[in-house]
Amino acid sequence: MNLLLLLPLCFGLASSASPTNPYPSFTASELDQIESTAVTLLKSWSTHPSFTSPAITTEGYGVPMTKTPVPESFSDSTMCLDGSPFYFYIRPGDPTKVALFLQGGGLCIERFDCEHRATTNQGSSNEWEEEIYDERNVLSQDPRSPLSNYTHVFMRYCSGDTWTGTNTVASGPGRYDLYFSGHNQVAAALSHLQATLDFGSTPDSQFFLSGASAGGIGTNNNCDFVASTLGPNVSVKCSPQAGLFFPEDTVALWQSRIGVNGMTTNQIASIYLSRMFSSHHDTSCVVHAVKNLDPPSYCWEGSYLTPHISTPILVAQNFWDQLQIDNILCFQDNLKHASCTKDFLVDFKTHTLEQLTDLSGKQRLGLFAPSCYMHTGNLCLFNTEDDGENTVVAGKTYLDAVKSFVEDDELMVVVDDCVGEEGDEDYVPCSKVCEMHCG
Ligand SMILES: *[C@@H]1O[C@H](CO)[C@@H](O)[C@H](O)[C@H]1NC(C)=O
Ligand SMILES: *[C@@H]1O[C@H](CO)[C@@H](O)[C@H](O)[C@H]1NC(C)=O
Repeated sequence: MNLLLLLPLCFGLASSASPTNPYPSFTASELDQIESTAVTLLKSWSTHPSFTSPAITTEGYGVPMTKTPVPESFSDSTMCLDGSPFYFYIRPGDPTKVALFLQGGGLCIERFDCEHRATTNQGSSNEWEEEIYDERNVLSQDPRSPLSNYTHVFMRYCSGDTWTGTNTVASGPGRYDLYFSGHNQVAAALSHLQATLDFGSTPDSQFFLSGASAGGIGTNNNCDFVASTLGPNVSVKCSPQAGLFFPEDTVALWQSRIGVNGMTTNQIASIYLSRMFSSHHDTSCVVHAVKNLDPPSYCWEGSYLTPHISTPILVAQNFWDQLQIDNILCFQDNLKHASCTKDFLVDFKTHTLEQLTDLSGKQRLGLFAPSCYMHTGNLCLFNTEDDGENTVVAGKTYLDAVKSFVEDDELMVVVDDCVGEEGDEDYVPCSKVCEMHCG
């Protein structure tokens, strides 16, 4: 691949509103290689049933969030995968304070799983309920939440694109006649809030953006966009939950370096997915990529992107992300590769910790990092099990971290320093409470 060829193209794109389709800069045979490697690598990430995060609940505490159409001017650019209309779920609250949550649930990888997804609630709004609740996380009305009185916006995931897509037509290379409009849906929500609440028209307005798993990826990718769109009257804060895909230099167990020119898992995934989704990328990250002679699409993934997010951000991430380990990097059913070895797990954890430690030096970045073998299951505000305990890191829960972020504008950096059993100090996930029922 000739990275120099990217330069003129990228400088042009970096200044435009929707930058980066690096794909034309690779040769056709490089693209083929990237594509087939990406599909092999990622296919097990697409359809696993545990990937809806959180699950939708139709009964709960307080007032429901109700299904609300997008503004008319956005109806053609925000469709679900199958072309059905996108809806927000909104619960009115303080009109100067908004919390918005991006639901997760895997992502679209290839024709087979994308077409299947388009027939489910994760790709079509045709059977979406009128009213839903959030009992556990940042849209809960539980009075213990610092966000309980905010206007709540639940963004249900039907784009399969980690909330980065900007496609408005269901055609084009690798799109399977489906729409990928997740980023446009975020833009539509901001416009709706501005139009209906005059949101951002008074100083000291607050906006809290969060999301889990694919929604955590979406939180990273949309954080600065939200801040720049809402303007100087709004203080924006972001908190991705389990959105770090993947720790820097992560490689799948079954291939030390994969296929194309020694590229890592992150690089292959970023290039392939960004092209399929026409992903929106963070503007300052793209500027960095261009300077560094990297494809701008690298900005899709957290290890590359997070250092360039200038909005304050609280990252919640487990040491051993169970989904990444079990369902992507060590997945074996369709590939017949060896199961995860202890060495691989320790290595993955070490990469995650190094990544989090690197990030913790960044200004305006907080961390909540438990030593757990979990994906999103313990990263929420409340454990709804009767007398269930919350995951605690250095004496603090995620609720504590969100509270000090929201109420005091303070970003905690709490990283587990518990020690595993003797002889297995590095290996054992040693947080006392990991199972927490966040969904
Ligand atoms: C939410 O509003 C109620 C009623 O006005 C008030 O008692 C409570 O303190 C508020 N909670 C927060 C977190 O601001
Ligand atoms: C910010 O708030 C001020 C004071 O209310 C208002 O005059 C101004 O128009 C607001 N800015 C935007 C971008 O809405």
